[in-house]
Amino acid sequence: MANILVTNISEILTLAPANKKEGRHIAEKDLGIAANQAMYAVNGRIEWLGPHKKIPKVLAKNKKIKEVSMKGQTVLPGFVECHTHLVFAGHRAEEFELRNQGMSYQEISKRGGGILSTMKKTREISERALLAKSQSRVDEFVSQGVTTLEIKSGYSLDLKNEIKMLKVISKLQGPRVIATFLGAHAKPPEFKTHTEYLRYLQDVVLPQIKKRKLASRVDIFVEKGFFEAEQSRQYLKAAKDLGFEVVVHADQLTLSGGADLCTDLGALSGDHLLQIGDREINKLARSNVTCVLLPAADLYMKCAYPPARKLIEAGARVALATDFNPGTCPTQDLPLVGLLARLEMRMTLPEVIAAYTVGASYALNMSQEIGSLEVGKNADFMCTNSSWQEAFYSAGSKFPTSIYKNGQLLR
Ligand code: NIG
Ligand code: FE
Repeated sequence: MANILVTNISEILTLAPANKKEGRHIAEKDLGIAANQAMYAVNGRIEWLGPHKKIPKVLAKNKKIKEVSMKGQTVLPGFVECHTHLVFAGHRAEEFELRNQGMSYQEISKRGGGILSTMKKTREISERALLAKSQSRVDEFVSQGVTTLEIKSGYSLDLKNEIKMLKVISKLQGPRVIATFLGAHAKPPEFKTHTEYLRYLQDVVLPQIKKRKLASRVDIFVEKGFFEAEQSRQYLKAAKDLGFEVVVHADQLTLSGGADLCTDLGALSGDHLLQIGDREINKLARSNVTCVLLPAADLYMKCAYPPARKLIEAGARVALATDFNPGTCPTQDLPLVGLLARLEMRMTLPEVIAAYTVGASYALNMSQEIGSLEVGKNADFMCTNSSWQEAFYSAGSKFPTSIYKNGQLLR
């Protein structure tokens, strides 16, 4: 938690107006762009932000405050990556080839591949080895400007190894890490029915996770062949009763009632949402659910893209994320996600930037702390030699030159 005075910012994007509008109906003016700015943070929180020329004299003279000159760079809020499955062992490259040759994701899952093949590898690996793999993936996200990172469990599907995954998540260094329990990702072979497995999660696993404070959020894959809407509703209600926040993998492959569950239960986010129609769009837009769109997964799955324009125009709040996982999205490339949103979903650049900051902060229920640069919020930011217009423009490129969390240099 540092005290720093950040000076000589040529251009800052605070995103404060976007935050005020709760991430809805975003236009360029909502980026909060200002020239020649400075920012002061105490104990990692922003205390003052304003024109470089108006830095309060007490600050300018205080020798105890570390001054960091941006030397004319652009400053943006740190990116919030709000949907990943980055803790896993092995890969699924063969399965990717099978899908390319025409076999469906569901068919591969039925044959014991898919999530269950990653489950086998993730159950076998030691906690230490899993931590090392996961840490290097976290570092890769940070290098792209990510200061807050959500990570799901869900590749072990038993008490012992789901806890192993969550312990790994709790030990990761660098960004602010948010853990989500995704035990309800697929039915493991030890259980006959999905209902029996959900009952086990509800009665045995969720209370343990609560007691050990390993996650405060619960996710479920609502989909044909995975978990059906009505059993999911019951499970999510039980999770809420235990005090968990809930999110849903909703309507990714088929329209399965996921979006309805989100609005009915007050989920923080509905994620994927490819298959929704006008009825679901209007319900989501009128709700407080954040619509988390994951176009890199859609690219790998050769699916259609979610109806971003319709959602945005109806007034929904949208976030973007990678969905990084070994099956449907084996890439961590944020620029690619933004590019697909721009090219394939016709989102504007201000909409994309707001989705990766303010929108995603709402998806994590952290809009009071992160997502925009404002007095009282965390000093999580990135500096770049590029102009903001060059964000989400060049796939595979590193946009930031340095990244700070709570006013402290991460990289
Ligand atoms: O978000 N859809 C469910 N979960 C992941 C895929 C997980 C996997 O295939 O390993 C997703 O796409
Ligand atoms: Fe996912």
